[in-house]
Amino acid sequence: MNFIKLNINQPQAEKLVTLGLSGRSFCCPVFLDNKSSFEAPTYSNAELSPYNFIKIGAFCSIAQAKIGNVIIGRYCSIANDVVIGANEHPLNRLSTSRIIQTPDLHNWQRFASKPIVDINKYAKPYEHCNPVTNIGNDVWIGQGAFIKAGITIGNGAVIGAHATVTKDVPAYAIVTGTPARFQRSRFSSGICEKLEELQWWKYNIYDFIDIDLSNLATALPLLEKKINSWEVEEYTGNVYSLDMINGVVI
Ligand SMILES: CC(C)(COP(=O)(O)OP(=O)(O)OC[C@H]1O[C@@H](n2cnc3c(N)ncnc32)[C@H](O)[C@@H]1OP(=O)(O)O)[C@@H](O)C(=O)NCCC(=O)NCCS
Repeated sequence: MNFIKLNINQPQAEKLVTLGLSGRSFCCPVFLDNKSSFEAPTYSNAELSPYNFIKIGAFCSIAQAKIGNVIIGRYCSIANDVVIGANEHPLNRLSTSRIIQTPDLHNWQRFASKPIVDINKYAKPYEHCNPVTNIGNDVWIGQGAFIKAGITIGNGAVIGAHATVTKDVPAYAIVTGTPARFQRSRFSSGICEKLEELQWWKYNIYDFIDIDLSNLATALPLLEKKINSWEVEEYTGNVYSLDMINGVVI
């Protein structure tokens, strides 16, 4: 992996807003995997975990969450205090302490009973401690939810406030609690299948804004007609890499 520092100043941040990327995530300097990318427009106030991979799709609204090693689809809503992709510590070592991974942790080697030469040669890096988490499209994650690293959350799923998600979540499922359990589906299986088939998130929702999207029963046939008659084109938002953001490429 190669890491690049996401690092822009205030005038650059303002320019970025005009390109559709806004929120604190873009203003806080942080090293990220250079394959990270953000599709405009999107808004994120999340703390991005350093040395992690982050990919966020268009039309997401992400509050003060903490996210790392994650692929987030389009039209997702993520509330405050959500944690996605927290590092796991290996459980089978002498200790779960990070000293085994990083012997110079917090510069504590100063407290060794005798000096240790070249302390980092004893480092035993963690492997597979932070697999990528996959969040589908149109996912709503409630306040304070914890999503274990490596989980896959299907399109349209809802994660209840303060849920602890330790297993994959099917599309359109509402899950709640600790550990998160299936509560119900948002829609009947027929409607879920239709939504998965239409993949409306591939489009610009503003192309459907004349349809009453709050009434699914009447909206679905109209949505289907627009999509199947090629009346609307798929949305291809600009995808910004870290290099592009740092250079605020226009
Ligand atoms: C998960 C959620 C969407 C469910 O909404 P709902 O289907 O209208 O839920 P209801 O209020 O009808 O509750 C259904 C059952 O789930 C339980 N429940 C609801 N939310 C829960 C939660 N977050 N954790 C645990 N149980 C929950 C209810 O107690 C009820 O249990 P019962 O059947 O035993 O009585 C909602 O409760 C929630 O958590 N919303 C998140 C809000 C939020 O975080 N907003 C942040 C700003 S974006």
